[in-house]
Amino acid sequence: MREKYIVGNWKMNHKQEDISKFFEVFSKTTVGKNCHAWVAPQAIHLPFVLELSNKKCNGKLLVGGQNCCYEKSGAYTGEISPEALKDIGATFVIIGHSERRAIYKEQNSELCKKSSAALSCGLQVIFCVGETLEERESGKTEKVIEQQIIEGIKPLDKKSLQNIIIAYEPVWAIGTGKTATPSQAEDVHKFIRTLWEKEGLPNAHDLIILYGGSVKPANIGELMAQKNIDGALVGGASLKGEDFSALTIAN
Ligand code: PGA
Repeated sequence: MREKYIVGNWKMNHKQEDISKFFEVFSKTTVGKNCHAWVAPQAIHLPFVLELSNKKCNGKLLVGGQNCCYEKSGAYTGEISPEALKDIGATFVIIGHSERRAIYKEQNSELCKKSSAALSCGLQVIFCVGETLEERESGKTEKVIEQQIIEGIKPLDKKSLQNIIIAYEPVWAIGTGKTATPSQAEDVHKFIRTLWEKEGLPNAHDLIILYGGSVKPANIGELMAQKNIDGALVGGASLKGEDFSALTIAN
């Protein structure tokens, strides 16, 4: 049985005061059985969030980065070192979020290098894939995702792949209030698991595949009821302790 993951992607939001409020609520939450609660704050807030998580949450909330460099350390001004992420207590990093792909033009080959660096530092990687509306409407969804996985993940060391989680996030559903229907999401999740097997990547059955795109307490239940949906990567609804708690209790 695969366990469930609810991962909050806080993006470039929150001041320290908002984070303290989040913890006031979330620290009182009992996370569902077999559910893992993770959050990815802005890099600048990582030490603050780690401290609050350790003091108030007793290990029930793991903390990670939203991005990292493709080198472990060195002369890369302004970048986030995966080695330093691991060193301060982060356990995972999100790689290839569609905002990174669209705004910062990150390509699959670079995302593969970033994943490789993060995995070699002992971080788990949440690797994001997903199609734009135009790609969906022209029938290219599977092709796009196949290419993202073949170029972004297949070249990685097979042994390290047990530390990869996939997040399927249709770009048209992110921050738009338009969620993929449970069956649209399930079709793509099933496709990803089948592709994993077809490409000879290990343990397709155990691969954790998260759905992301306008997930909220009101729609999490029907999404999680799908056979191949193992959790959610949540933006907007992860910012407030009340909503994030509801998402993690429900699972
Ligand atoms: P959203 O964002 O939940 O606000 O749609 C999801 C994401 O970008 O990971």
